[in-house]
Amino acid sequence: MKIIIINGSHRKNGSTALILKEMVQKIKTYPNVEIQFYNVADLNLKYCVGCCKCYKNGKCIFHDDIEKLSEDIETADGIIIGSPTYAGNVSGQMKVIIDRGHFVIEQLLFGKYAISVSTYENYGGRDTAEILNRLLYYSGAVISNSLVIKTSFSSNPLSSQKTYNTVNKAADKFYKDIHDQKKYLCQKIRHFIIFRFGILPFVRKKGNEYQGVAAKWKKHGIFCP
Ligand SMILES: Cc1cc2nc3c(=O)[nH]c(=O)nc-3n(C[C@H](O)[C@H](O)[C@H](O)COP(=O)(O)O)c2cc1C
Repeated sequence: MKIIIINGSHRKNGSTALILKEMVQKIKTYPNVEIQFYNVADLNLKYCVGCCKCYKNGKCIFHDDIEKLSEDIETADGIIIGSPTYAGNVSGQMKVIIDRGHFVIEQLLFGKYAISVSTYENYGGRDTAEILNRLLYYSGAVISNSLVIKTSFSSNPLSSQKTYNTVNKAADKFYKDIHDQKKYLCQKIRHFIIFRFGILPFVRKKGNEYQGVAAKWKKHGIFCP
């Protein structure tokens, strides 16, 4: 079982990181699990310039760290994506990953299990979670859990017993969902509607300009009538 974790905070030992690392510890108690932990702070990432070449060629024009991250996600069974709340939204670094990671149109997360983690101090934590969750289900993921954790800046959110338990329970359920390939029927139907009536006709209309996308779908085993 391969799991990718992305910490969308520049602070490698901040509140978001502490939650994600606790999940690593919990999941590591199970056998045969490989975990890749990415900190945005370690990634060399340019902004998306909107050239749309990736839709045609399947790859970005920039040779930075995004392709390695996306390729790693492609072969994973699950993904945990965490972000602090900045001005009622995800962090800027996380937004760059969302823009450039080949998620939605390419259906990068098709059939993979996912957890979103949003941390916040005062307001907007739910907005951040919603942005992350929308990314996940539009990209084809099955959402196992979504954690919205309120915590003071630079505090350890796990010092609250309630948060500690919530985080550990979510990690436990995540592993079991993947292991048992748990079915979430409502999510499956929602994704079918988004893909069949939104993404598929859009990509078809683009024709050859989006041939890289069709190749990705084939690679991800997506049935495309
Ligand atoms: C630039 C900046 C903007 C922030 N904006 C918000 C905000 O809009 N709402 C909020 O509740 N907390 C906000 N915070 C607080 C962080 O979201 C919160 O402390 C988070 O847990 C920090 O996570 P980290 O330690 O992993 O970086 C902001 C913090 C920073 C540095």
